[in-house]
Amino acid sequence: MAEVSLAGITISYWGPDGSEYTAVRDIDLHVPAGRFVSVVGPTGCGKSTLLNVAAGLITPTSGEVRIDGVPLRGLNDRAGYLFQQDGLLPWKTVLDNVALGLQLRGVPTAERTETAMEWIRRVGLAGFERSYPHQLSGGMRRRTSVAQTWIVDPDILLMDEPFGALDVQTRQIMENELLALWTGTSKTVLFVTHDLDEAIALSDEVGLLSAGPASRVVGHYPIDLPRPRDLLNIRTEPAFTETYTRIWSDLRTEVMTSYERSAAHATGN
Ligand SMILES: Nc1ncnc2c1ncn2[C@@H]1O[C@H](COP(=O)(O)OP(=O)(O)OP(=O)(O)O)[C@@H](O)[C@H]1O
Ligand SMILES: [Mg+2]
Repeated sequence: MAEVSLAGITISYWGPDGSEYTAVRDIDLHVPAGRFVSVVGPTGCGKSTLLNVAAGLITPTSGEVRIDGVPLRGLNDRAGYLFQQDGLLPWKTVLDNVALGLQLRGVPTAERTETAMEWIRRVGLAGFERSYPHQLSGGMRRRTSVAQTWIVDPDILLMDEPFGALDVQTRQIMENELLALWTGTSKTVLFVTHDLDEAIALSDEVGLLSAGPASRVVGHYPIDLPRPRDLLNIRTEPAFTETYTRIWSDLRTEVMTSYERSAAHATGN
């Protein structure tokens, strides 16, 4: 079990010309141990940036990440990170991609192959262990990534729009499978998406980031839908649509602000 806290996080990037761009400012976000928390917000508002900070890949300009109350220094070795882009190695088979984390930890070949085969079965890819990423569909590649992240049994899962590139049906199936994997594990999840639907369906709580630059958390919404949830049917339930309507009115404001800012930027106004 691990608790993740982002405390007063500000992140500024410096452009090649020395100009400063503050992506997020003063972010406080708390993910209690074993909970599933999503962050939603318009494109470019700093969602991936926050996950990179939680993973220890970038150091915040100010503020700190705390894991079980202890400030994070360097890489977060208790976290598995499912990247927004495909993180599979194209020259490795499904089996070798899935086993990679164990290989890096020095697990002997026979043992890691056995564990990897078990994960390949669990994510529905039995028979494809010798395939290379380019021979798989988008959904199959994502399944491989899920297995690759989960195999090392991290206490914390950081997921960045993991199903964003999939068609709606595949996406809902994979969301269901993700919840089934997570249920009963006590893993702490920080999940990022621009899709409010997905955030509500999966989470215990949704945090809303404002339009950038200098995004802040402008809303925390507890999701009281009972578990276990059947994600293939949940979206038509009245409690779901009610929650959706409430959060969407706030998210829509941020999406429109973001759109207007980028349109103004494009025309130089
Ligand atoms: N390494 C970097 N150097 C400079 N600017 C960056 C860097 N990484 C991100 N940014 C900027 O910071 C802002 C936030 O980027 P980020 O990728 O975190 O957004 P996001 O919310 O994940 O967007 P999306 O929904 O499109 O994935 C963007 O304006 C982006 O251009
Ligand atoms: Mg992103």
